[in-house]
Amino acid sequence: KIPVIYDTDPGIDDALALALLAAHPRFDLVAITSVHGNASVDLTSRNAQGLAALFKLDIPVAVGAAGPLLDSRRRDGALHVHGDDALGGIAHQLPKPTRPADPRPAHQLICDLVNERPGELTLVAVGPFTNLALALRQDPGIAGKVKQVVVMGGAFGLKGHSGNVSPVAEANIMADPEAADEVLTAPWPVIVVGLDVTQEVIMREADLARLCGRGDGAGDLLWQATRHYQKFYDARDSIGGIYAHDASAAAVLLVPEAFTLRRGPVRVALEGIATGQTIQDWRGEQSQPTPWTGHPAQQVCVAVDAPKVLALFDEIF
Ligand code: BDR
Ligand code: CA
Repeated sequence: KIPVIYDTDPGIDDALALALLAAHPRFDLVAITSVHGNASVDLTSRNAQGLAALFKLDIPVAVGAAGPLLDSRRRDGALHVHGDDALGGIAHQLPKPTRPADPRPAHQLICDLVNERPGELTLVAVGPFTNLALALRQDPGIAGKVKQVVVMGGAFGLKGHSGNVSPVAEANIMADPEAADEVLTAPWPVIVVGLDVTQEVIMREADLARLCGRGDGAGDLLWQATRHYQKFYDARDSIGGIYAHDASAAAVLLVPEAFTLRRGPVRVALEGIATGQTIQDWRGEQSQPTPWTGHPAQQVCVAVDAPKVLALFDEIF
């Protein structure tokens, strides 16, 4: 089993990813940490707790950062995408939390768990990367003790995919570019699952409908939650389904063979019209130092076998 800490801003696609992390037999979900992003951290934390109860998880859920590292950064949220409760109107139907929130802030819980289990834990981060950056700032030593980091974020301009909050920026990066740059350049191994692949994995109505009647009510609620999301995409992109962005981040751990990875250091543009753009240097060694020099080669997903990812939803509940 793969032991995972899930850092999330639920969020409809965050809930779909949580379904995989909570219910797939090959995952051992150890803790959930919430973060600002799709909505305020109050709302995403409440959603995280309710979803933990829905999936019958008896694990710590800790509240994370309320905003980006720099106060000056935009705080747009994405309620227009995810609905007023950030869960497509189903949040009030979630069961009451079965345990109180962990008293520690999210970044502290991450540091504590990683230090308790050096070399074992994988971090899956699918909101702005603020909690991970705060954890690294508090205890840089955790970088050498985390087994793997997987992030949903970024856009590398492949296969005609652009950013989703600017022509070049993806929402999780734009919500805290400084945190993203710190996390992507830290000396730990990161797999970056960006829009270039998450927008290739389209969950169609039939894929979502297969969740109904399963998971002791959880599948039906997920189906209902995705109705709002589907309307948003129907109006904007007409893709005939939804992007389950965050679920692809969980999937890369279960079916790595479904993803093509490219190695090279990744930086985030922090100023100007390209703010929030993720840029990988895969050219190899350069004669002159560049902004990528001296940073670890991370793995960016550049292609995906979508049916293999979608099939994972038939392996849960
Ligand atoms: C990311 O932004 C959020 O709205 C989604 O939950 C996902 O993590 C996609 O850009
Ligand atoms: Ca998310």
